[in-house]
Formats: sequence, structure tokens, C-alpha cells
Amino acid sequence: MHKPRSVRDADVGGKRVLVRADLNVPLERGRVADDTRIRASLPTLRLLLERDAARVAVCSHLGRPKGHDPAFSMRPVEERLRELLPDDRVEMLENTRFNPGETKNDPGYARELAGHGELYVDDAFGSAHRAHASTEAVAHLLPAYAGLLLERELTELGKLLGDVEHPFVLISGGAKVEDKLGVLQNLGGKADTVLVGGKMAEQIRSDNPLPFPVVLPTDVVAANEFAEDAQTKVTPYDDLPDGWLGLDIGPETRELFGGHIAAARTIFWNGPMGVFEWPPFAAGTKAVAEAVAGSDAYSVVGGADSARALTELGLDDDVSWLSTGGGAALELLEGKELPGVAAIPEA
Ligand code: 3PG
Repeated sequence: MHKPRSVRDADVGGKRVLVRADLNVPLERGRVADDTRIRASLPTLRLLLERDAARVAVCSHLGRPKGHDPAFSMRPVEERLRELLPDDRVEMLENTRFNPGETKNDPGYARELAGHGELYVDDAFGSAHRAHASTEAVAHLLPAYAGLLLERELTELGKLLGDVEHPFVLISGGAKVEDKLGVLQNLGGKADTVLVGGKMAEQIRSDNPLPFPVVLPTDVVAANEFAEDAQTKVTPYDDLPDGWLGLDIGPETRELFGGHIAAARTIFWNGPMGVFEWPPFAAGTKAVAEAVAGSDAYSVVGGADSARALTELGLDDDVSWLSTGGGAALELLEGKELPGVAAIPEA
């Protein structure tokens, strides 16, 4: 795997530094609703300040705005960052996606960004799968280094790509089978057990595209319609009445999955087991979160929904590594090269 050189080895004293962080955080009523990614960017920013960088210009995208839409301004993120890191040398640039050149990896926009620093530090692991001006093109215009978070993500997720301790249990959930298939194909072969829940389980049950068997739910929490207040009942999967939907794994499956997780020495979990944002269908995801957090295996969790479930349960500190990347973590584990990483020279 490409090992980009580290910001630890950069000579930043007296210099202006451009930092690309992934501060793509959820906003609610104009305020930051979850500051995990902002807090995760602090170690690199602190390192630069401690090493006497003259200025630190932080840039990030936020959401997927169509042009310059003030609803996607970085100002609320800047406010939160200032509370966490009150230092006048830090400046936040506006949403990189306000410029149409960003997603086109446009050299003109990259030059504009490069004007903010004499050095470039990429700490945006969550965006490393995007070849955009602020993650890729700009890295060719300034001496480029990996930030501490980017480095740590590569190290922790990279462990799953190397020799792992067995049993290795892979837990996959969520709605979109296409997003997860690559990881299952790349890692599933070396996993001892692949547990599949969520909507994915139904797709795999009807047509398993994988060259190995997976463990599917035996029972489900069924709902008579797709609604939070639907009528529900627990039923064996094979007895799901016509027109009913399985919106969570059932108690027998929770037990089954829990047993596999308890025996694991290495775990990767991505994707919820059901519609966990609705309380009647949250028990499966909660059980998996608790089993993963309660295990002393090397455990890695990726993806916004699984991360949210863990954080809401207060279990985020109980796993070995909670990745800040969704798509980026999946692409790395698929064995793909991440453009934002490849653009940084090796040490
Ligand atoms: C993410 O939240 O996964 C990253 O910030 C990337 O966002 P994007 O999918 O809009 O490029």
C-alpha cells in the first residue's frame, strides 16, 4: 500500500500551511449537529500550531451544494472549530464545492487553493476516494504531506488488508448491496464468517453474487408498512407474510450474530441491521453495536450509520477504531487506490 509521507516530517515553522480536512458534518438549524469530524481534525491542526506554523488555512467541502448556496456555508463549522481551537492563526476557507472546479479536479481552482499555503497537508480521509481539486490536483502544486488522521486511518484499516487474527468476522448491513459488494469480495474470502443484515440480506438471499456462503438472518422484525408506527411482529424469515417488510433482524438472529461476534479475534462492521433510526426497528443494530463494543477482538467500524449507532449508544470509545470515512473506508478495503492518498509522495 502507498504510504504517504507524514506531516510529522514536514518543516512548517514560520510557514503558511493549507490543510484539507473532511469537515463534512451534519448541520441542524444552522448549527453543527455532530462534531466528530471536527474533533478528529484537531491533532493535526494542533501539531502545526505547536510547530509554529505562521498560518493554517483549513479547507473542506460540506454537503453537495449546487453552486454557491449559503445553506452549505462553512461558517457554522468555523464557529465550532474556533470554540475547540481558539487560535488566530487558523482560518477557515469557504466550502470548496462552491467552486465548480472542485469536483472537476480543475487545475485553476487547485492553483487558487495552493495560494493559501507554502505546504499542503491532507487530513481528509473521508474524502480521499474523491479526485477533486482540494484532495488531488492541489497535492501536485505544493509539497504535500499526510495529516495525522489520514495516516491513522490508513494504518488501522490497513490492518484488515494484511494478516489478521482469526476468527475474522465481517458484518455487513445497510441498504445498498452494490456499495458493500467490493469489500465483501475483497475481504470475504479471508473472513471466517460473513454476517449480513439489513436490506442487503434480502438481496443476497434472493441472489448471492458472492463465491462463498454468508450467514443470513433467520428471523426478522416485520412491519405491515414502511412506517415508524407500523404494526409489527417477529417472524421466521421464511414465514414473512405477503406484503410485510423485514425492517430489523429478530431476536434469534441477534443471538446468532452475537455468538459469532463474541468468538471473533478480528471484526469489521459496516452498515445497520435495520431501520435503526425508528425505535421499533433499532434492537438489531443496537445488539450488534453492543456485541462489537463488548468484544476484545481488534474491531473496526466504518460508515456514517454504524458510527452514529455506536456514538448514540455511547460505545464509540469501546471499539479499536471508528473510521471517519464512509465511502473512503469501503474503497480502501475493496483494495482500491485512493486518489487523495496516491497524490502525496511517499517518505
Ligand atoms: C463523506 O461524508 O462520505 C465524505 O465527506 C464524502 O462526501 P461526498 O460523498 O459528498 O463526496
